[in-house]
Parts: sequence; structure tokens; C-alpha cells
Amino acid sequence: MLNLSLQELQQHATPFYVYDINLLRQTLQQASQEAAKYNFQVHYALKANTNSPILQEMRAVGFGADCVSGNEVKCAIENGFPSHYVVFAGVGKSDAEINFALDQDIFCFNCESSHELIVLNELAEAKGKTARIALRINPNVNANTHKYITTGLEENKFGINAWELPDVLALLKTLPNLSLIGLHFHIGSQITDLSAFRNLCTRVNEFQDWFESQQIQLEHINVGGGLGVDYYSPDEQPIPDFEAYFSLFNQFLEVRPNQQVHFELGRALVAQSGTLISKVLYIKKGVSTNFAILDAGMTELIRPALYQSYHKIENISSEGAEERYDVVGPICESSDCFGKAVVLPETNRGDLIAIRTAGAYGEVMASSYNLREKAAVVYLG
Ligand code: LLP
Repeated sequence: MLNLSLQELQQHATPFYVYDINLLRQTLQQASQEAAKYNFQVHYALKANTNSPILQEMRAVGFGADCVSGNEVKCAIENGFPSHYVVFAGVGKSDAEINFALDQDIFCFNCESSHELIVLNELAEAKGKTARIALRINPNVNANTHKYITTGLEENKFGINAWELPDVLALLKTLPNLSLIGLHFHIGSQITDLSAFRNLCTRVNEFQDWFESQQIQLEHINVGGGLGVDYYSPDEQPIPDFEAYFSLFNQFLEVRPNQQVHFELGRALVAQSGTLISKVLYIKKGVSTNFAILDAGMTELIRPALYQSYHKIENISSEGAEERYDVVGPICESSDCFGKAVVLPETNRGDLIAIRTAGAYGEVMASSYNLREKAAVVYLG
């Protein structure tokens, strides 16, 4: 059950996101300690959550920023991330976004196609600058996760495929305003089977061998993010097993002398610290189960509607006998459903419902569909 005081939560108008800052700090401490054992550098993937107080915590433990839009680069810099700890990735960077990032002298652009390299070179040349780049390579490793969040297969739009690399290197020789400093990989998100990362290490080692055979030294290898969290039991093991995760890379990745290893974690750092709190508006009879209609919906948390994702749902006000409810939102879409036949204590109008593990890809994916207001945010701890 959610480890925050009911009285405290009752003081706020619903729906709202609440963040447990103590849990966030413990999570970040563990992640940074485990990464530090091997001198690994973590860049927090801002896409998971861009709230300032959360970014401040990321900064406090020395993480850099992994950004996927000009606004994320801007947000990272405004929140105190030094520009040499900012990375800009993404398949579709606009000219304006690239120009902004060039002006900020960010650490590295993770580039995903030959065409992007040509454009970046042109824009850097116009500014009389040299852009540091990493090539995002599609390693063709199956992450065994939801098909919408797997990214490292040849059929996905992300990265440069292995067979294109000789042409890409030939192209790079003609682009004097780019400096190749690293390789970038990311195979997907919510990965709970660590063997996928082991397979990634094997592929990265092969790519490194190939680049060495081309007499190219790389300053860093970025192995992306993707470590999953336990959505089913958020209280049993709220902090992901960073020890197993980082030690796996230490064991299987063949790091070259003077080479840095970078990670881009998002979800594993912030998901468990966030909960969406909503109020029951109505109870309505259904054919097999009753509906509990909430004042939060897919506009506040779209993951269940978009990926059929599971989020644990708790009634934190009631202790009555258990019943089953379809827990739904107020939006005019049938997919606006947080869970079907969810077992809850007898639920009534006004009860507070906690939708757990919503700190990553929750608020950031909110929409104003149906002209909904943005949910409020509360930080505790
Ligand atoms: N690096 C790259 C290149 C990425 O594309 C992503 C996530 C990350 C790092 C961070 O991955 P994480 O450590 O958070 O798994 N909205 C979806 C997740 C989309 C992930 C997109 N890329 C969801 O709610 O499950």
C-alpha cells in the first residue's frame, strides 16, 4: 500500500501526481553508487519526467541529461545540467533544435542516419563549429518487451543498420565539421529480462572490433537505457536491481582503454516514486462488474490505454469487503480504462484511488484532450 499519509493526500484537489522524494533519493543513491563502482556515467533520460524538483535530484547525484528535443535540451540547461553533460538524441531533430544545441556546445549529438549527418555538418559549418557525434547503431537485439517500446530491431526506425556502416564512415570523411567520438545503442524500454542486455554487450563488442579494424578510436560507448521496474509489486522491491544491471555490463562489455561507458536510464530512476491520485466520482452497475468512474483518465496517464500496461490500483480510503471493479476515467473513449475487474475494497464516491508506479511516462505524456486541465503535482518527503 502507498507509503504516504492519507491525511496529507486528502488535503489536495484531485487528480494530482504525488512524488515520494525520499524514495526518489534512495533510488538515485543506489543507482549512482552502483554505477560509480565501474566509473560508468549515467545520463538521465528526461523524456521520462521533466519536473524541475526531479531534475534537481538527478543533478545532485551527478547525472547528465539525455534529451530528445530542443526543448528538453533547454530544460536540462535551465535546470543546471552543465552543457558538457547534455546529449541530444532522436531520429527527427529539426534545424532549429540542432542550431540551439550547437549554440549550447552540448557534449554530443547521437545521430541516426546519413542524411542527419549531412545536415548537422552543414549547420555546424555555418556556425564555424565542430559537432561531437555518436553514431546510433541498430544492434538488432530483441529486448522482449512491448512491441511499441522495442527499438533495437532492424525493422524499427531507430539507428543506423550494421550494413550501412562502411558507407557512413566514408561519408564522415567528407564532413569536416563532425567529430566522431562515440557509439550509441538503445534496444528498448521496460526490459526485465537482463539477458537482453547481455546480448547487447556481445553485439557492442563486435561493433567495437569492427571500428578498431577501421582504425577508429571511440571515447565513449553509450548503451542506452531500458532497465524495467516491477509494476506488480511496487512496495516489495521499489528500487530496481542496479547492482545486477551495472555489474552485467561490467562483466560482458569489453571496454577499451580510456573509454567511458554511458547509460541513459529514465524509467528505472523515477517510475516508482510517482503515483497518480484520483477520486471516485461515481459507481455504476455493469454487466459483470461495476464501474468505478474516476476523475482521472487517459489524459493524465495514457500508458494503460496505449500499451495495455498494468499499473497497480489501490483504494486508499476504504477497508471494506473486496469486490471487482472496472476502473475507468471520464474521457469519451472506451480505452480510457485503468484496469478491468480490479479487486478493491468496497468502493464509494469520494474514495481516493492511487494508481501506482506512474512517475515515468505519466505526466510527460498527458494531454489536454476533452479540454482537460493539467493535473496538479505534490512533492512529499
Ligand atoms: N535512450 C533512448 C534512445 C530512448 O529511446 C529511451 C526511451 C531511453 C534512453 C530511456 O529508456 P528507459 O530507461 O526509460 O526505458 N512511453 C513508453 C516508453 C518509451 C521509451 C522511449 N525511449 C512507456 O510508457 O512505456
